[in-house]
Amino acid sequence: MHESIAEHYENLARDYDGNWEHSAEYVMWMNGLIAGTLDVRPGERVADIGGGTGIFQRGLLPAVSTDTPLLCVDPSPHMLEQVPEDPRVRTVQAGAEDVATGRVRLPYERLDALLVKETVHHVVDVAGTVRSLADLLAPGGRLLIISLPPKLDYPLFQAALHRFAENHPEPDAIADAMRAGNLDTTLQYHDYQVTVDREHYVRLVRDNKWMSVLSTFTEEELDAGVAEMRANHPEETLRFTDRFAFVLGKRN
Ligand SMILES: C[S@@+](CC[C@H](N)C(=O)[O-])C[C@H]1O[C@@H](n2cnc3c(N)ncnc32)[C@H](O)[C@@H]1O
Repeated sequence: MHESIAEHYENLARDYDGNWEHSAEYVMWMNGLIAGTLDVRPGERVADIGGGTGIFQRGLLPAVSTDTPLLCVDPSPHMLEQVPEDPRVRTVQAGAEDVATGRVRLPYERLDALLVKETVHHVVDVAGTVRSLADLLAPGGRLLIISLPPKLDYPLFQAALHRFAENHPEPDAIADAMRAGNLDTTLQYHDYQVTVDREHYVRLVRDNKWMSVLSTFTEEELDAGVAEMRANHPEETLRFTDRFAFVLGKRN
């Protein structure tokens, strides 16, 4: 993992789940979509790559048994330390590239369901890694990559939106990589309407630096960015659309 990204998540880990405290409804909505899309059956071998604290695996757990635990795979030890104790979950410290190249071997040779949520932008060779992850799927297996589009409709400051867009893969490119891995692939978008107190959002940006792109700015740049946000959004409550690309590949 790139050093500054590693540091970002080590710092964020302790209160990562707290970043969603204002939006328990969003967490439920997203967990429901993931569970409905991956449609995990009892006994299937499941891994969440870049699973972090496990907050978006919860919808999958009712279908997971202790005999075949879900693998929460992440390179950040502090993120993994936050995964709640649950006999249906086993943590594995590794990056997506480690798993894709076989540098780290998972307890299962093949997988039936693979989730990669808001993580693929941290991978250096997205196309190669996605193709190799596709190779890990058993017949009937599903790979679900959830990613933000590069162009965000967030009330952030412009420099952050630009830098985010520059370093973010296009969902179409992710879908192409899955097709190159011989998966039947679909790309769908799911929108969530966010309503959040402006000062709370400012704290997520300024204090928590809750998106990794924010930790690439200096403290002075963040202060200027927050001033820009307040000037552009004098309203007390922010309303915007959070759009997620769901790229789903199935192995026949
Ligand atoms: C935005 S968080 C997403 C965590 C979780 N999937 C979620 O949606 O809450 C990104 C995660 O990717 C992990 N990560 C960073 N680089 C990675 C890599 N090369 N391979 C896999 N995971 C990585 C980070 O440690 C972090 O937990």
